[in-house]
Amino acid sequence: MRLFAALVPPDEVLDEISRAIAPHVGQVPGLRWPDRDTWHITLAFFGEVPDHVLPELEVRLARAVRRYNVLDLAFSGFGAFSSARRARVFWAGVTGDSMVRLADSVKAGARRAGAAQTDEKRFHPHLTLARSKQEVDLRPLVEALSGFSGTPWRAEHVRLFRSHQGPPVRYESLAEWALAPAARS
Ligand code: 2AM
Repeated sequence: MRLFAALVPPDEVLDEISRAIAPHVGQVPGLRWPDRDTWHITLAFFGEVPDHVLPELEVRLARAVRRYNVLDLAFSGFGAFSSARRARVFWAGVTGDSMVRLADSVKAGARRAGAAQTDEKRFHPHLTLARSKQEVDLRPLVEALSGFSGTPWRAEHVRLFRSHQGPPVRYESLAEWALAPAARS
């Protein structure tokens, strides 16, 4: 089964992004905008994982997640892969370096469980908002949204999702683990 670990931001935070992009949705030919209920921030993509690996994967991910405190994050800016000029993926960026360490631990735990790592790209925290099969020039879109900066929010859980390829693509939540409570100051 195809698996990945992700953070799911609170509804109010996703509302802000929805409102920001609303005037642009459907305006760029070839750009497809997945349903909002599929939105997530991928921490680690595990690719195809044999069924028998799942129990050990869950144990390892639970262990990795509980070693980290809740994360204070914020959406900031929009961008595209591989670039705004030659885009196939349009995204909202996420600030918060702490996510990178958590993602590394989650990947290491998955490796120890025997889940193959297919995602060797440098980790760039983002929430995918739209995709295109052909490269499109999204410089005007990125520019139009450049003033956006979202309300800070706290990530309290990590979820393990199974991706059903569809169509339509569907993400099934298999497990959820709480990050450790923030240390009192
Ligand atoms: P994306 O948002 O940039 O497309 C489920 O497919 C999730 O895993 C998506 O968020 C996707 O990132 C991410 N992912 C990372 N590497 C992937 C890969 N090689 N193939 C498919 N999805 C990948």
